Amino acid sequence: MATKLSTRAILLSLFLGLAVFTGKPVATHGGGTKDAVADKVRKIVATAIQDNPGVGPALIRLLFHDCWVQGCDGSVLLDGSKTEKAAKNNIGLDGFAVIDEIKAKVGEDVSCADIVVLAARDATFIVSRGKIDYNVTMGRMDGVKSSAAAADAVLPPSTFNITQLNANFAAKGFNTRELVALSGAHAVGVAHRSSFQDRLDNATATPIVPKYRKALTDDVEKQKKLQGTQDPIEPNNIRDKELAFRNASGYDDTGVDTSKAARGVLDNSYYHANLQNKVLFRSDWELRNDTTGVAGGVMATFEANANKWFLQFGNAMAKLSKLPAEGTRFEIRKNCRKNN
Ligand code: HEM
Ligand SMILES: *[C@@H]1O[C@H](CO)[C@@H](O)[C@H](O)[C@H]1NC(C)=O
Ligand SMILES: *[C@@H]1O[C@H](CO)[C@@H](O)[C@H](O)[C@H]1NC(C)=O
Ligand SMILES: *[C@@H]1O[C@H](CO)[C@@H](O)[C@H](O)[C@H]1NC(C)=O
Ligand SMILES: *[C@@H]1O[C@H](CO)[C@@H](O)[C@H](O)[C@H]1NC(C)=O
Ligand SMILES: *[C@@H]1O[C@H](CO)[C@@H](O)[C@H](O)[C@H]1NC(C)=O
Repeated sequence: MATKLSTRAILLSLFLGLAVFTGKPVATHGGGTKDAVADKVRKIVATAIQDNPGVGPALIRLLFHDCWVQGCDGSVLLDGSKTEKAAKNNIGLDGFAVIDEIKAKVGEDVSCADIVVLAARDATFIVSRGKIDYNVTMGRMDGVKSSAAAADAVLPPSTFNITQLNANFAAKGFNTRELVALSGAHAVGVAHRSSFQDRLDNATATPIVPKYRKALTDDVEKQKKLQGTQDPIEPNNIRDKELAFRNASGYDDTGVDTSKAARGVLDNSYYHANLQNKVLFRSDWELRNDTTGVAGGVMATFEANANKWFLQFGNAMAKLSKLPAEGTRFEIRKNCRKNN
């Protein structure tokens, strides 16, 4: 995570965002509130993002990857060589240290599954600079099973086409509109080269704008050296690349705040990039290949109307947070990384 987007500008802007960061009650199953817990979580998440902006996107993705696999049961947090953490589709998954830190502060009454939900809610609020807010309930229990194979069987890989994406989301009760809304999370965070290599290879090329592919290919070579790895990371959002890269890609930034302070912010700029075919993953690009026209139409709406997207993204995140745990044995873990 040390190499993730981190500029003074981002830190400063997050700091300003925190000034308007006010407490929101968290409803519980019992109808009461657990404000003390929610307050603790919020503070830890805010500090963690201040220290390392990459934590924000990581916590948002963690919710998706926990709840999609066996429901929201904290199964993604369990350590082990064959647990969900080892799944291919969980490459780059992060934020675990923050979850541990929260667990240490909120104690044994709060499940790890609830912590993932609360942390993602707070990260969404902070990274969107207070534009996206939603309520969540508490009372989830932690599952005891975690399987890499199960995770790879249900998490969508970046190479999925629109038919596969729609089917994958429908299986969880999410429609195309929600698929498009949630994919907007790719306005932030990073991806490994291996997650979009299919877009760079000439032999297996999936549709990609030639100028963008060239800029990406060149930059990946540069980043291999800079980051000292064959699988370097790139920001998901072209907005977060420097001007020379955006120019070389032919990116039209009309309607997008590309100032340093706006980099790393969760906004609707994903749709500006996608409607220009300048997105990293084939799964992103595929939203334009929906022959029914639904996905394309929804993207145009979200591109034109940020507030609509803020609302629908929040609603979809709240819905994600409600996916019921599918296991048969539950507990409240003492340590989020292992069963009691
Ligand atoms: C629609 C199907 C989706 C696919 C195929 C997909 C795929 C991916 C891939 C391949 C990465 C990069 C992993 C890496 O190489 O390190 C990624 C990153 C990310 N995804 Fe998705 N994703 C999908 C949906 C979602 C959803 C629903 C959310 C959240 C609500 C989400 C949030 C994120 C975030 C925030 C990152 C950046 C993580 C970080 O920087 O730590 N994605 N996604
Ligand atoms: C969350 O719930 C509180 C209390 O019921 C309510 O005042 C607030 O408007 C809700 N916030 C959102 C974003 O729905
Ligand atoms: C999507 O992929 C599936 C599985 O490979 C394939 O059967 C289907 O024809 C593809 N759909 C489109 C629209 O490319
Ligand atoms: C891919 O094709 C482009 C021209 O279409 C060429 O410039 C580039 O060198 C090729 N890349 C690889 C890895 O073969
Ligand atoms: C990017 O393009 C703009 C407009 O064409 C130009 O003014 C600027 O000098 C270019 N900057 C870089 C770094 O390529
Ligand atoms: C896009 O959709 C068409 C059918 O509508 C299909 O033939 C084509 O393979 C799709 N492209 C990709 C990359 O899946």
